[in-house]
Order: sequence, then structure tokens, then C-alpha cells
Amino acid sequence: MRVGALLACPLAAALAPCGGSNVALVTPMVAGSNAVDYGALRSLLEWHVECGTAGVVALGTTGEASTLSGEERDEVLRTAVDVCGGVVPVVAGTGTIDTERAIAMGRRAAELGADGTLVVTPYYVKPPQAALVAHFNAIADAVDLPMILYNVPGRTGVDLLPATVAELARHDRIVGIKEATGDNARVAVLREQCGDDFLLYSGEDAMGREFVALGGDGVISVTANVAPRDMQTMLANPNKSSSIKIDAKLRALHEKLFVQANPIPVKWALHRAGRMGAGIRSPLAALEPQFHEDIDDALRLADVDVAPAAEQDAGANGVAAPPARAVSGASA
Ligand SMILES: *[C@@H]1O[C@H](CO)[C@@H](O)[C@H](O)[C@H]1NC(C)=O
Repeated sequence: MRVGALLACPLAAALAPCGGSNVALVTPMVAGSNAVDYGALRSLLEWHVECGTAGVVALGTTGEASTLSGEERDEVLRTAVDVCGGVVPVVAGTGTIDTERAIAMGRRAAELGADGTLVVTPYYVKPPQAALVAHFNAIADAVDLPMILYNVPGRTGVDLLPATVAELARHDRIVGIKEATGDNARVAVLREQCGDDFLLYSGEDAMGREFVALGGDGVISVTANVAPRDMQTMLANPNKSSSIKIDAKLRALHEKLFVQANPIPVKWALHRAGRMGAGIRSPLAALEPQFHEDIDDALRLADVDVAPAAEQDAGANGVAAPPARAVSGASA
């Protein structure tokens, strides 16, 4: 599977981040202990490669990066590069509130063979626009990888404005932005100000098809964790009537995967689909029972098989691992 393994240096096989469906990958954890389940991670990655996922984004918010140790971050990234290297680009989340630490994490991602980084605006500290420019340019100067900016004001408390993005887009290593403002009117503005080569990703699954139809390049997607093939097919031709039908079929997932803070619902959904245990780390917690039916219903509407309820309970309580299901890639 791994073409890159034939080459001595993983960077020699580096791919560029690209449009289409880029999965914001969860980090599977064993129910009970919450240890990272690298076997389940490897299976998920192999399935994404099989399903034609355009890119893998590891160590993001969906991957619970803030509760992983340095060693765990390294091992998650090594696993992703090992499975995907040379076939599907691997982007590592390396953003944090401290510029120097973001540089250190970016350099580590480069050493481990990542194809790019996704760097969120510093959260909580609310830097002004000029300070954001200095922050991102310092990281881009220091880390020899293509960088994707990440704007998610609802989580960070700061909005990276289009004029600021346009200024940053002049840096050779700043190649795109993940926009999660919930405002698709930004697509045209950013396209106009940043040029045709600047990658525009939506961070909102429910608006993703339209974002690409309006001139965006792709989605960094939570839904793609459970429906990778459908997301990729849909985004390849966003205006086709068959893609509009896929979007409708995935609509409940796009919405219900956010009934509690991401990645709570998507980890539960993957558990219900038999792809991993129900582990999740504090300060997050497993999906509350009143939402379980919502997720099962959304999975069924998306044509994803759901395990019987008895298996769900065993996995959730950490009594037994959920039954291993054949990784066929057949179901979405
Ligand atoms: C695709 O759909 C969008 C609206 O969702 C529209 O603005 C655009 O012109 C369409 N593109 C083509 C090529 O039909």
C-alpha cells in the first residue's frame, strides 16, 4: 500500500495538499483506558485510502490533539504517513496559542514526513490582525512545509479577515485556508483576493457542497470520517444532481455530528459503525444517551450499517471491545 516506503526519505515522496474531501481524522481510543488504539487508527486510514479520500488531516480538533502527549502525536503522525505516504497527502494540525511552540510542532511534523500543516489562529488570546500576520509568517518562515490557515471564530474568539488572509497568501508556503465562519459569501471574496491557486476549504460539512460549487476547492470534513466515499464523490462534481442527492442523504449526519461538541458525536458514530471503541478523553465525554438514537438514524439515512444495541453497550462500558467488522469500504 505504501509507495513512499520504497524511498529512503519520506519527504522525497511528499504530496501537496489538495482539494476534495479531506478527512478531519478522529484519534481512536480504547473504551475505558482511553489509550490511543493505533490498530484501529491504521484500519481507519487504510479504509480512507481505499475510499479515495483526497487528503487526511490528523491531529486537529477532531483528533483531540490538545489531549495527546508529544509521543502520541508523533505516533499518530507516523502511522498516518506510513499508511498514506506517497498515496494520499497527510496534513498535521500544528496550531497552538504560542508561536514558538507552533513552530516546534510544525518542524516535528516535517521531520515525520507530513505533507503539510493546518495551523489554527491562536485561540483564547485574541491577537489583533497585524499580530496574526506576524504569527503565521513566523511559522511559515521556520517550517518547511505547505501551510493551511484555519479560521474558526466560533471556537477561537478571533476572525482571520479576508484582507489578512490575502496578505498571508503572498507567502510561498501559505497555500490555503480552512474557513469555518459559516459564511459561504467568503468564498468569492477570498478567491478574488487570494488568487486561483490558493486552496479554499470549508470547515462546515453542512455547507461544504455549496462552498465548492461556489468556487472553493474542498472540505476538511467531519462527515468524511463515516462517509468518505460519498463525500469525495459529492465534492468532485458539486453541481451534479447526483451530488445534490448525496448531500441530501448525508444531511442528517452533517447536522447530528454536531449535537454536542465535535468530536463527541463522530466518535460515537464510528463506534456504532463498528470501526472503533468508544474511548474519548476528558474534558470531552462520550455522547449523552439522549442523542444516541439521532446518530443511529443519521447513519442509517447515510447507508452506513449500525451494530445491534447490545454491542454498543459493551463497547461503551469498556466491558468488551466492539466486534471487529470487516473493513470493506462498501458502506459509504
Ligand atoms: C454551481 O452552483 C452554484 C450555486 O450553488 C452556482 O453559483 C454556480 O454557478 C454553479 N456552477 C456551474 C458550473 O453550474
